[in-house]
Amino acid sequence: MYINVGLIGYKFMGKAHSHAYLDMPKFFKPKGIPVMKVICGRDEAGVRETANIFGWQEIETSWERLVERKDIDLIDITAPTNVHKEIAISAAKAGKHILCEKPLAMNLKEAREMLKAVESAGVKHMVGFNYRRAPAIALAKKLIQEGAIGKIYHFRAVYLQDWIVDPNFPLVWRLQKDIAGSGSLGDLGAHLIDIARFLVGEFEEVIGMSETFVKERPLAVSMTGLSAKAGEVKEKGEVTVDDATLFLARFSNGALGSFEATRFAPGRKNYNSFEINGSEGSIIFNLERMNELMFCSRKDPEEASGFRTILVTEPVHPYISVWWPPGHIIGYEHTFIHEIYDLCEAIANDTPIEPNFYDGVKCQEVLEAVELSIRERRWVKISEL
Ligand SMILES: NC(=O)c1ccc[n+]([C@@H]2O[C@H](COP(=O)([O-])OP(=O)(O)OC[C@H]3O[C@@H](n4cnc5c(N)ncnc54)[C@H](O)[C@@H]3O)[C@@H](O)[C@H]2O)c1
Repeated sequence: MYINVGLIGYKFMGKAHSHAYLDMPKFFKPKGIPVMKVICGRDEAGVRETANIFGWQEIETSWERLVERKDIDLIDITAPTNVHKEIAISAAKAGKHILCEKPLAMNLKEAREMLKAVESAGVKHMVGFNYRRAPAIALAKKLIQEGAIGKIYHFRAVYLQDWIVDPNFPLVWRLQKDIAGSGSLGDLGAHLIDIARFLVGEFEEVIGMSETFVKERPLAVSMTGLSAKAGEVKEKGEVTVDDATLFLARFSNGALGSFEATRFAPGRKNYNSFEINGSEGSIIFNLERMNELMFCSRKDPEEASGFRTILVTEPVHPYISVWWPPGHIIGYEHTFIHEIYDLCEAIANDTPIEPNFYDGVKCQEVLEAVELSIRERRWVKISEL
């Protein structure tokens, strides 16, 4: 079955998704074969350049026109958060399947509207929490399900970056609340929340703190992904999101969680890491060594106890059998290839896919609870929202 794709956004995530559509059918043998039909962006020259590089058949400069096209089966949203809702609801009404980048929405109200729209349209829907599809994290899930670390007591996660530590780094859209929704919390914290829900379970209550260390920045003249240029004129604008957010959580199953998301950790580029401690053992993951999972089991003989490093490149490891011989590692881009493979299979076989908009809503509940707890300086139960 062919799946005609319309991709909105052509920069950082636009390229990551384009690469995934291009590569996926060459390695996996999918029943659902994506066709790179149309890529859409507002700047015709920019979108044409990306279209030519990756081999998209056509370009559009209006997402409204794209969503109305009868020949498109799947709408993929890699534009900033402020347009996710409008595009997703229009796409659902037009009967398209949807892949939407994270965080799902600007706030919980929007996320719930989006979930309602896709459910009533009966289309497949997925949120781009790509790290679930890093083989080491998928292996962690399998080990946890098999009871390898027993009852979970602790989930300890950090997502650390340093790309805005320079106070002269310009005011890109990620630092503007009306476009991004929130800062490090919704950008980095959202990934940690999704990983925690995937591996540990639902959140019960949270309490957080946040800070905006640099309150004004030069206006940007150009931006893409995590890079940007400031203008000649040193005009400044207000940073309206959090630079760093930390929070504590209690999970419904009794586990305790601690979370830290910051863009102010010099030397940390994309340090997405967690440790899970359970009654029978522990697991450690760090994206900068994403082909490894550290695992310790209390069942090991005492003299040989401690962490072992599992290189997740054996054919038995999740997603790996289609790639290279053991030991020949894979990278960040493969998480998107795996995501798109699973989505296309779900469309072709008419089977459920996760993480979907329901997971997007559950993540958004936690984001909103953390923000409320910071505003009101108190613990917030998820059930309050
Ligand atoms: N899964 C991940 O790990 C991950 C990583 C980075 C970004 N993201 C998410 O992806 C989304 C985009 O981030 P990015 O880093 O690719 O941003 P970016 O700035 O690199 O690219 C944004 C793209 O959206 C386009 N765009 C903006 N407004 C538009 C509109 N109204 N209509 C059509 N196109 C529009 C821009 O032209 C650009 O092509 C965000 O939601 C972000 O949170 C996810």
